[in-house]
Amino acid sequence: MENQMLRGALDQLNKIEELQQCNVEVDPKYELGAVLKYFNNEKPILFNKVKGYNMPVVGGLFGNREIYYKMMQTNQEERLFKFMEAIANPQPVKRLSDGPVKENIITRNIDLQRILPIPTFHGGDSSSFITAGIVVVKDPDTGKNHTSVRRLQINRGNEMSILVASPLANSQYRIKEAQNKPLEVAIILGYDYEFLLASQISSETYGVDKYEVDSALRGEPLELVKCHTVDLEVPAYSEIVIEGVMPPHKREIEGPFGELMGYYGAIAPHPVVEVSCIMHRNNPIFQTAFPCREEHLSNGLIREVELFTTLQKLVKVKDVNVTVSGGCRFHAIASIEKQKDGDGKTAIIGALASSKDVKHVVIVDEDVDIYSHDDIEWAIASRVQASKDLVIIPDGLGSGLEPSHLMRGVTDKLGIDATKPLGEMRKQFERAIIPGYEQIDINKYFPGMKK
Ligand SMILES: Cc1cc2nc3c(=O)[nH]c(=O)nc-3n(C[C@H](O)[C@H](O)[C@H](O)COP(=O)(O)O)c2cc1C
Repeated sequence: MENQMLRGALDQLNKIEELQQCNVEVDPKYELGAVLKYFNNEKPILFNKVKGYNMPVVGGLFGNREIYYKMMQTNQEERLFKFMEAIANPQPVKRLSDGPVKENIITRNIDLQRILPIPTFHGGDSSSFITAGIVVVKDPDTGKNHTSVRRLQINRGNEMSILVASPLANSQYRIKEAQNKPLEVAIILGYDYEFLLASQISSETYGVDKYEVDSALRGEPLELVKCHTVDLEVPAYSEIVIEGVMPPHKREIEGPFGELMGYYGAIAPHPVVEVSCIMHRNNPIFQTAFPCREEHLSNGLIREVELFTTLQKLVKVKDVNVTVSGGCRFHAIASIEKQKDGDGKTAIIGALASSKDVKHVVIVDEDVDIYSHDDIEWAIASRVQASKDLVIIPDGLGSGLEPSHLMRGVTDKLGIDATKPLGEMRKQFERAIIPGYEQIDINKYFPGMKK
């Protein structure tokens, strides 16, 4: 169905007036990324003129929560439950004999950088990078489709280095490597919100077919076609599909690359992808994602599901925010309806245990807006006594993607219990309110003024 994948998403973004078109020529080297970053990677932008190419580039699609929710027909209150429902109830896909992504098939003289407007983002980056490619591999035992975003460094001609951090996907490659066989992969560009979100679910934790989770999220079967040179299926309405193999026993140096938290990641040897084919729609649009921020939100939305379900077992949790400024993994804020003394500390234990990546957590009451830095700071300033409300756990396991952890190999964990006491003392923490404030219409006083 035409509404699936990128073109459907762009139509929808146009309808809700969230798509910015850039008709001035931009250089894919630094300039395109700089424009995306100017808007904090929160504004979907279609760059219609890209220097040296006839192919437009789209970026900034996935960096803004509100747009994400609108595009997935959900909202702040309901999103966790919508995502949980889809993970728990994957739905069938639909297989088509042909689809638009097969309109053009290139199998010879593949020079990735010549064919595709692949951007270079930071001054110290080793090369240009495909940052938004969703890689699909098939689980050799179950036949389930595992999708994930992995950055791809352009090495030369048809060869890229691939950074695979998760254990399961790594093991799929290593199993094949032990048999001296290549792992077949397809890299999908030009997708929509449902497809990206489904890719961020951990295969290791849930063991699901991520195409089927996508079908559940979009409320209709994801439509697939067969690849041309590998035994995999890909969405029929994607813009571009890059097919190839990860050959055994082959590594190339990858990095440096400006990535998580805006630091340059480690330079290390990584497996490569040798491209055998590029399929694309007529007039394809190349998709990119600015590193450092845009990727966090999609990944963080799933981390929030995991944090919420962990806390739900322990306390009456209202909502959770795995913050963008904390890389959507290091910082968690949770609001709870405190029932018993000790709920705040118990929630700290739960949050720190929900993922090894969580480093600092703040627990607040339900009257605090966990999406407002001001409100969180207000709660810490007025509800915390350091001698009683801080929990510090030295030397825990942390994320290898964080420099202060890498320095020591372990990381300290911190919890701040910023909840109000129960009982008589609670009254002292009641917020002063102006009756009718929420209903005030500022236009009545200042006609035409935007809030
Ligand atoms: C835009 C974006 C870029 C990402 N880049 C990488 C990457 O380069 N390497 C990696 O291992 N994971 C990366 N991730 C995270 C994985 O895609 C994510 O953890 C996924 O759930 C892994 O799937 P798996 O746990 O089933 O293997 C990225 C995520 C996003 C949204």
